[in-house]
Amino acid sequence: MTTTVLLGAQWGDEGKGKIVDLLAERMDLTVRFQGGANAGHTVYSDGVKLVLHQVPSGVLHQSCFNVIGNGCVVDAPALLEEIEQLAAAGFVVTGERLMISNTAHLVTPLHRWIDVQSGNRVGTTGRGIGPCYCDKTARQGIRLVDVLHTKWEDRLKEQFERASVEAARHDWNSPPALSEWLPAFRTAVMQLLSFTGDTAEYIANAAGNGANILLEGAQGTLLDVDHGTYPFVTSSSTSIGGALTGIGVYLPLDHRIGVFKAYTTRVGHGPFPTEQNNETGERLREVGHEFGATTGRPRRCGWLDLPLMRRVCRINGFNRLVITKLDCLSEFETIKVSVANDGAQNPIYREFKGWLSSLTSCAKREELPDACREYLDFIEDELAVPLAAISTGPERRQIIVEESI
Ligand code: GDP
Ligand code: IMO
Ligand code: MG
Repeated sequence: MTTTVLLGAQWGDEGKGKIVDLLAERMDLTVRFQGGANAGHTVYSDGVKLVLHQVPSGVLHQSCFNVIGNGCVVDAPALLEEIEQLAAAGFVVTGERLMISNTAHLVTPLHRWIDVQSGNRVGTTGRGIGPCYCDKTARQGIRLVDVLHTKWEDRLKEQFERASVEAARHDWNSPPALSEWLPAFRTAVMQLLSFTGDTAEYIANAAGNGANILLEGAQGTLLDVDHGTYPFVTSSSTSIGGALTGIGVYLPLDHRIGVFKAYTTRVGHGPFPTEQNNETGERLREVGHEFGATTGRPRRCGWLDLPLMRRVCRINGFNRLVITKLDCLSEFETIKVSVANDGAQNPIYREFKGWLSSLTSCAKREELPDACREYLDFIEDELAVPLAAISTGPERRQIIVEESI
């Protein structure tokens, strides 16, 4: 039995979905432990593109059970829609394949509404994530278990009253009246109840029975509410500590995998020292198709930032790294990497010669062009963590696996 935790090592969208899908083939259980419908994890299955938001990316493998842990926030109507879309694509998700923690908090249409009114400063996804975690920590949220045992609809009325006060204070329009959305919301929540259970107990039992377990991070370490570029972060613990909090059971985390792009992207506002707000950035966006999987927004693009990545490795104790989208650098004559910062926190770059050739036929690291290997060797040395896999395209088979991950 092994437990693997896979985390984004940048500002999200590192290609976690693809790598989870790859690993899930030999997993018994995949668990999401934080975040919600703000995530967009892309997986290609036999040429068909699927984007997962709340359902763990292990769902495409029939033998893999999937859990949405207590650290997640659940958007019931959106999750049911996702389950329907998966069914339409041939992946039927029933209670036999998915369990949702009964202590996960519910995202309500009011959370979404507040996020849309107030999220511009950070550039949020508008999925109600911040307001929902806000209510959770203010001890006024609604958990799935509360739906069974309390007068939870009274809590929605209180939430509406609070939202109305906020609206008046900020001069927003009025929040949507309960009568407009409660009937459909109630139906969706009731439908989800059949999926709920004590996921911590389920995971503990599976571990006791020798299961291989994969914990799937969402967002990235630099979006962590504690360790990220605060206040331009998401509202959950996206790094390793969040994994144990968000599943509710101690498991020794044998494999700690950090996934990162061969360059850097970011959606939303906030610092980005290696951002290329120029032709280079536009080229990266074009070759990497860098548009948000959840909101469709263009992603900001720039070079790899090793000082930030070193900090991310330290936070998470990674013992394996996976680099993705290396193929997207194939057409650059020169590739830059930030290796340090000057006194004014500006990046100091080291330049690498581009390899200017396709990587698609390379099945092993030794087969990669010399210049490409030089780039990878340098990153590996600087971060002092082995590169376990090198992704060279969006499809499942487009990957060079160096050591067991
Ligand atoms: P996630 O949120 O970390 O799962 O990443 P996203 O799915 O939001 O964004 C990653 C994008 O890159 C998706 O469109 C993937 O299909 C794509 N992708 C993943 N790995 C590779 C790769 O090695 N090369 C290329 N060209 N695309 C990749
Ligand atoms: P995956 O799991 C990239 C960003 C938003 C915004 C900030 C806060 O696909 O990697 P939120 O809606 O969470 O309150 O927004 O975080 N963000 C992401 N960026 N990938 C994601 O998820 C993200 N989820 C949130 O753009 O800057
Ligand atoms: Mg994404």
